[in-house]
Amino acid sequence: MGNSNDQHDEAYQLEHVEAPVTLKAYLTCAFGAFGGLFFGYDIGYMSGVMGMTYVIQLYTEKDAFVLPSSMKSLITGILSAGTFFGAIIAGDLADHFGRRTTIIGGCLIFIVGVILQTASHGYKLLVAGRLIAGLGVGFESAIVILYLSEIAPRKVRGALVSGYQFCITIGILLASCVNYGTQNRMDTGSYRIPIAIQFLWALILGVGLFFLPESPRFFVKKGRFDRAANSLSRIRGQPEDSTYIKDELKEIVANAEYEASLVPTDNYWASWAACFSGGLRRPNSNLRLTILGTSLQMMQQLTGINFIFYFGTVFFQSLGTISNPFLIGLITTLVNVCSTPISFWLIERFGRRPLLIYGAIGMFLCELVVGIAGTVKPNDTTVASAQIAFICIYIFFFASTWGPGAWVIIGEIFPISIRSRGVGLSTASNWLWNCIIAVITPYLVDKDRGNLGSKVFFLWGGTCFLCILFAYFLIWETKGLTLEQVDQMMEECGTARRSVGWKPSTTYAATSFVAHDSKPKIEERESV
Ligand code: BGC
Repeated sequence: MGNSNDQHDEAYQLEHVEAPVTLKAYLTCAFGAFGGLFFGYDIGYMSGVMGMTYVIQLYTEKDAFVLPSSMKSLITGILSAGTFFGAIIAGDLADHFGRRTTIIGGCLIFIVGVILQTASHGYKLLVAGRLIAGLGVGFESAIVILYLSEIAPRKVRGALVSGYQFCITIGILLASCVNYGTQNRMDTGSYRIPIAIQFLWALILGVGLFFLPESPRFFVKKGRFDRAANSLSRIRGQPEDSTYIKDELKEIVANAEYEASLVPTDNYWASWAACFSGGLRRPNSNLRLTILGTSLQMMQQLTGINFIFYFGTVFFQSLGTISNPFLIGLITTLVNVCSTPISFWLIERFGRRPLLIYGAIGMFLCELVVGIAGTVKPNDTTVASAQIAFICIYIFFFASTWGPGAWVIIGEIFPISIRSRGVGLSTASNWLWNCIIAVITPYLVDKDRGNLGSKVFFLWGGTCFLCILFAYFLIWETKGLTLEQVDQMMEECGTARRSVGWKPSTTYAATSFVAHDSKPKIEERESV
């Protein structure tokens, strides 16, 4: 598969003079990826806070040991509700105000949410703060992906966007460490410290983004080619009048003109409707791509990864023979962090399709082993240790494949006309399924409910098997292509399986693609 993907590379070289990837490009994307920290930290810290003795006593009768389920559900679920709507709204705003401004706006909203949560000394204000912070996280999680995909050089786009996933994993780890440090405090510091620390992430990202360039593709969409050239030149580290910049810009503009000729952008509702247009027959119809992006994020959640991060400690406790379930929880988090950078190399070396196909096979096999071992020999120390080892291997497969892969792909598949909304909708789907899994899992595993125990891994194994089929039939190979070529590749290939080794036969710039003269052309649209 490596060979055929190299053809993408050769094909590109035939058509373009390409700017070398500079250190600045790497640093810009690495900084942008920092947005992942919000995401990970938020996933990680709340379950710890809800288990703290001080917090439980604050919100309930003094002799309670756990928060009531309804409280836990609301505290966990309200963030997902915020992120769900945040991601959708942000997709909208990013086309209007720009990617960078929307991310900065998200940081401000997030800060308000953090202040409310930190100030809270009761349940209601905490919930309100979490809803608002959730909106901010939704902004970050969708638009950082969009921004990174649009500014990263094509050759290392997969690796750089995977940096976002790396930051998610670091966020989860940091949250465990901070919780660990404050869990035994019997004052408001127990929950205020883990909550207030997040203020820092928003400050660093928000302030830092002021110094980074806006996405050139956003300026092109707005018809501001002068500003697009300027920001492209800053990102690529080449003069505005160099062939590198002129060539790349020409292609982005030609593709945007083509897209603008197909999708009306002058009417707000019509441009939303465009995300669901084109029917199901055309391989790259907007409707198909929206379904692909949202279902890819659904499948990422259905791998079962958050069963480990949300309910891992309880599951390890249920194995009965494990002396320190919290330590095992920390180890699984560390495996997640350490395995993610491997994807930086894998995703560029082998491509998106093999990564997702083999990753799902690996996860499926591990889950099967964990399920069979725990069912055949429950309450056995050796078996329990083997189960934990396979859970770690499972996390390794997730972290090096589906974890980053799902984010990389949603940033690449949408055409410019619906990209920001498509990424927003796909991210919203991630949070929706994240929430659904968080809510239904207790009913599957709690002793007084489904009491599935290790058998729950048969369920995740089943969904992982679907992930294999999903990746095989539906994931396009986008490695090494520009975002504009991805569009062209889908048009020409017809099915995802044929996309491996596809070569562009022409460029948008070389072909006058503008289809219908009656539709608005890019120059006629509003300026920034
Ligand atoms: C997923 C999260 C998950 C995390 C684990 C992300 O890509 O979307 O739901 O908790 O990876 O590292």
